[in-house]
Amino acid sequence: WTPEAGALIIDDMAAAGRTALLPILHEIQATFGHVPRAALPMIAEALNISRADVHGAVSFYHDFHEAPLPPRVLKLCRAEACQAAGAGAVADEVARRTGAGLGETTADGQLAVAPVYCLGLCATAPAAMLEGPAVAGGRRLAAKLSGARLDRLI
Ligand code: FES
Repeated sequence: WTPEAGALIIDDMAAAGRTALLPILHEIQATFGHVPRAALPMIAEALNISRADVHGAVSFYHDFHEAPLPPRVLKLCRAEACQAAGAGAVADEVARRTGAGLGETTADGQLAVAPVYCLGLCATAPAAMLEGPAVAGGRRLAAKLSGARLDRLI
């Protein structure tokens, strides 16, 4: 992130007015891996909205992060079908193997574990998604999670 690089994105998209807020946030997140605090007043000024409005959007949506994420993020589904199929035991097993529970990062900073609510794999629950710059293709889905599949995923 640099203010100059951020300004290029913001200025390029700001002509649409306040409806550009989410597209700008998505573009900054995709480009820099996070939405730095320094970007918030720049976006607010460009869209003529309050900093609180920008901060509210960043903090409301789970896909926006104020700091860079670890190279791998394991998102464990916590929705109904996965809960019924043993998602709680999967989360416990992940915590046992990695030392990171839901909402935590491993001690080496290489893996974050986060909840997600339905990945569209309900018929093959429990499901998870591994994503990040260190994951081949950027993203990998996993279903019917068990010990052996967890080993391969982690
Ligand atoms: Fe987990 Fe739908 S409930 S994938």
